[in-house]
Amino acid sequence: MTTSATGGAGLEGVVATSSKLCYLDGQRGVLAYCGHDIHDLASQATFEEVCYLLWHRRLPTRAELGDLQTEFARARQLPAGVVRLMRSLPPGHAMDAVRTLVSGLAHYDPDAGDDSAGTALRKSVRLTAQIGTLVATLGRLSSGGGQIEPDPVLSHAGNFLYLLTGERPGGLATRAFDVALTLHADHELNASTFAARVAAATLTDLHSTVVAGVATLKGPLHGGANAEVMKMLLAIGEDADDDRVETTIRGMLARKQKVPGFGHRVYRTEDPRATHLRQMSSDLGEQAGNLRWFEMSQRIEAVMREETGIAANVDFYSASTYYTLGIAVDLFTPIFVVSRVAGWTAHVLEQYANNRLIRPRAEYTGPEYPQTFLPLDRR
Ligand SMILES: CC(C)(COP(=O)(O)OP(=O)(O)OC[C@H]1O[C@@H](n2cnc3c(N)ncnc32)[C@H](O)[C@@H]1OP(=O)(O)O)[C@@H](O)C(=O)NCCC(=O)NCCS
Repeated sequence: MTTSATGGAGLEGVVATSSKLCYLDGQRGVLAYCGHDIHDLASQATFEEVCYLLWHRRLPTRAELGDLQTEFARARQLPAGVVRLMRSLPPGHAMDAVRTLVSGLAHYDPDAGDDSAGTALRKSVRLTAQIGTLVATLGRLSSGGGQIEPDPVLSHAGNFLYLLTGERPGGLATRAFDVALTLHADHELNASTFAARVAAATLTDLHSTVVAGVATLKGPLHGGANAEVMKMLLAIGEDADDDRVETTIRGMLARKQKVPGFGHRVYRTEDPRATHLRQMSSDLGEQAGNLRWFEMSQRIEAVMREETGIAANVDFYSASTYYTLGIAVDLFTPIFVVSRVAGWTAHVLEQYANNRLIRPRAEYTGPEYPQTFLPLDRR
């Protein structure tokens, strides 16, 4: 048997599948969902429109959007069994709870046990609606609040903030959160989407593919980075002066530590998502009367530009954006799930529709073959 490696470490530059969902040009800093530029979507569309776009590969008409909003409103409530499961989990990493609870939702889906292609879209819509409630309720319960019922009048973003805080959010907060959801919804063959597609290619059920996505997103090199950014900002301290900020970052670089929120496998220019989140962080900081996290982030960005030329990614300014919205750090990566579930499920639907098992090869680098087998008493 002979094998040959087709890519460098981490499959860099390897084209592993074709997809009609996400156009990504890392040289020019272009990101588009089904041909629609992310800047247009972030400034003009809602997350619900983006979900429809990803699932149907075209923007919805007003009537189609209305139908999706109604479906979301119907599906948003969590099954009582999942809330019981949530309350029974020991305290710990919120992403662990999300992973378990998404798996839990599978048992209560009205189409559970029916893995036919026809049910996959219905499950995608329900799961996307439920995950928002799930993450917000998880955050609310862990901060000592009581469970709140979703409000059918509010948008997906509005519901999330309402279910988390118990207060109906203002226009800027809702818009900022909605834009964050749009920006995180899909990103071509990132690690978690690849994991979801590999799972889908075995023809496992839709909930299992999303569990694979959640488990992969959790890692600090992927979705976990937004929480790491905020931990870094908090460790530097709100009262730190610019010198302290700069010394901390230069020290990390000297120790060859990765600065969270910077760098990307694909982008060689600024991540176009960071452009919007930087603005959100600034707008929200201004409204809250506290621009310190935004200013500190800007200082870090300047040091990184000067020292390494490495640009901020989506996670960098989402950290200060969420923090200024009053969201606990432990919930940052779960919020990524609230959005990315739309992209994962769109990719899974695409995989189901034109499937072949994904089963690559590995270049063997182990002991020479054949080895002499020594019986146990002679080793
Ligand atoms: C995103 C990431 C995993 C991409 O990894 P990758 O494509 O494998 O790139 P590498 O880790 O090989 O980095 C290439 C070079 O840039 C440097 N680099 C990359 N990201 C860096 C960062 N955040 N801080 C400091 N240096 C960084 C590496 O040290 C490496 O330098 P070297 O060639 O001198 O060794 C990586 O940039 C990273 O770990 N970033 C921080 C975590 C993060 O924000 N993740 C979210 C991504 S959206």
